[in-house]
Amino acid sequence: MSEKAVVIEAPGGAEQLKLMDVEVGAPGPGEIRIRHEACGLNYIDVYHRNGTYALPLPARLGMEGAGIVEAVGEGVAHLKVGDRAAYASNPPGAYATARVMPAKCVLRLPDAIDFETAAAMMLKGLTVQYLLRKTLPQGGLQPGDFVLFHAAAGGVGLIACQWARALGLQLIGTAGSDEKCQLALDNGATHAINYRRDKDFAAKVREITGGRGVKVVYDSVGADTWEGSLNSLTPFGLLASFGGASGPVPPFSVSTLAAKGSIYVTRPTLFTHIATREATQAMGDELFEMVASGQVSIRIDKRYALADAAQSHRDLEARQLLGSAVLLP
Ligand SMILES: NC(=O)c1ccc[n+]([C@@H]2O[C@H](COP(=O)([O-])OP(=O)(O)OC[C@H]3O[C@@H](n4cnc5c(N)ncnc54)[C@H](OP(=O)(O)O)[C@@H]3O)[C@@H](O)[C@H]2O)c1
Repeated sequence: MSEKAVVIEAPGGAEQLKLMDVEVGAPGPGEIRIRHEACGLNYIDVYHRNGTYALPLPARLGMEGAGIVEAVGEGVAHLKVGDRAAYASNPPGAYATARVMPAKCVLRLPDAIDFETAAAMMLKGLTVQYLLRKTLPQGGLQPGDFVLFHAAAGGVGLIACQWARALGLQLIGTAGSDEKCQLALDNGATHAINYRRDKDFAAKVREITGGRGVKVVYDSVGADTWEGSLNSLTPFGLLASFGGASGPVPPFSVSTLAAKGSIYVTRPTLFTHIATREATQAMGDELFEMVASGQVSIRIDKRYALADAAQSHRDLEARQLLGSAVLLP
């Protein structure tokens, strides 16, 4: 059956994203075919497009989607034809009207969650789940503890603000404008720093925490925030470096970690956490509960036609989006 998918033939700028006719066959063992109602936009799609994370070419893009299960391959027991479903998953290919994909990371979608919300939250929400619930400093986090979360008004960031509020944490959010800082505060951040204006955000963090620093920094900005993140931590604190929207973290000497107070650094990825179906289901159930109960609401800032995927990438890279965005087939 001929379908439409966004394809790149070479790595590069947003102009590389082309909507093409593609063949979508029948699912093999362990696979399903899903017809998308909505697809999610994520910063990892930019890394795939520009070659930061190299893909075999030509390549399809997109790691997050929601829709209806159209066909089920042999050995898939948890999904059936007609199910409403959503996922964050490898391999890329979500920017499409329909696709065949591994069933392992595809979850049945509760009726309380609509397709656009699901497409806007699966990759980002599962990421927040593993960050705030599993990527923890020694002794864990207790209500009242301070955490620092960069890009707090972005897709991942706005979910993190709300989830942190539900956990009783004091989340200090950074963001690139006063409007974004206000949005982070409206969504549960207890403090916000405009790090484009207040470049020494670590000094602000010290002020807010009475000089102590935070127990954990969640840093997806990378190059621009690395040094300040190190300087924001309390002794034995944890720096969780989970992305590089401003560029990769510069090489560093391990002895820096001693000098900054015996601190820990980790570089986690969602894909380790969702390596098994059981783990994905458990994380997904927690995310669905947070959203269905209203503790986390998903802000969809913009909706783009699949044919306008290039514009969605331009807006994301220009830091113009607040919260999540979706592509509609
Ligand atoms: N490791 C994992 O498991 C994992 C999973 C999901 C996402 N991530 C990472 O988490 C981050 C957030 O993902 P997202 O999809 O929700 O994107 P997003 O936060 O909506 O967009 C990225 C944000 O990064 C900030 N930023 C700072 N410097 C930037 C620069 N030079 N260029 C562009 N943006 C810059 C911008 O916010 P301000 O203007 O407020 O600074 C921008 O809005 C990304 O780095 C992504 O790779 C990692």
